[in-house]
Amino acid sequence: MEIIIQSDAVAASRASARLVARLVREKPNAVLGLATGSTPLMLYKEMIRLHKEEGLDFSRVATFNLDEYIGLEKDHPQSYYTFMWENLFSQINIKPENVHLPDGMAKDVPASCAAYEQAIIAAGGIDLQVLGIGSDGHIGFNEPTSSFASRTRIKTLTQQTVQDNARFFDGDESKVPHHCITMGIGTIMDARMNLMLAFGAGKAGAVAATVEGPVCAMMPASILQHHPVAKVFIDEAAATALQLSDYYRWIYAGKPEWQRDA
Ligand code: F6R
Repeated sequence: MEIIIQSDAVAASRASARLVARLVREKPNAVLGLATGSTPLMLYKEMIRLHKEEGLDFSRVATFNLDEYIGLEKDHPQSYYTFMWENLFSQINIKPENVHLPDGMAKDVPASCAAYEQAIIAAGGIDLQVLGIGSDGHIGFNEPTSSFASRTRIKTLTQQTVQDNARFFDGDESKVPHHCITMGIGTIMDARMNLMLAFGAGKAGAVAATVEGPVCAMMPASILQHHPVAKVFIDEAAATALQLSDYYRWIYAGKPEWQRDA
């Protein structure tokens, strides 16, 4: 794993956006795995800026989102479909037919999940997967004890995640769906690169357990220790519980220029 500690979330988001931009320039038909939530918002802002000001072209890019709530219509204000169109897709030149999210209204959920996995394979697999991390260590909505071999499927959110996400539903936990469809940990591990973002003191414990703790189903993100190209972009607040933070800073400072956005 590569741990990139930046002064703040803006700097970390810009650094991660440079990786996305490099991939899209080198591979115009790149397949991006995307996340929702607060964490990737600045990355998406920077991708929009790169498109508008530097001509970054998304016309051949395909995207697959990690997850979607079950029971919310696409046009529900809190659906992840709405989130992605509001915060990214409507402001870049991506083609609607190249955008994929799990179908939270599917009648046959297992069939819809299997079709999602097949669509990822048909697109050539995910080149770069953007991840946030839950305070309980979830990636996608793979909550603690999720199988490391799991594929796209239905999951039940933990009470902690329902509480954490109530802020998007007027602070009302009763409005937060308890079920979702999420890519599995096996699906995430198949991505060629995983790029995790985590900001703020509330993520410090999960980040330290992910990077320096044992690989353990109780901390789903810790499986990224087994991924060949996992990059973790964090701000100072999220780095406070790391034992080897000075080492990670030293590595980053000593990187040759050509390797910086690689
Ligand atoms: C969202 C997702 C989740 C979030 C995580 C952190 O698509 O997959 O794993 O990344 O819950 O959420 P925020 O960024 O809101 O703290």
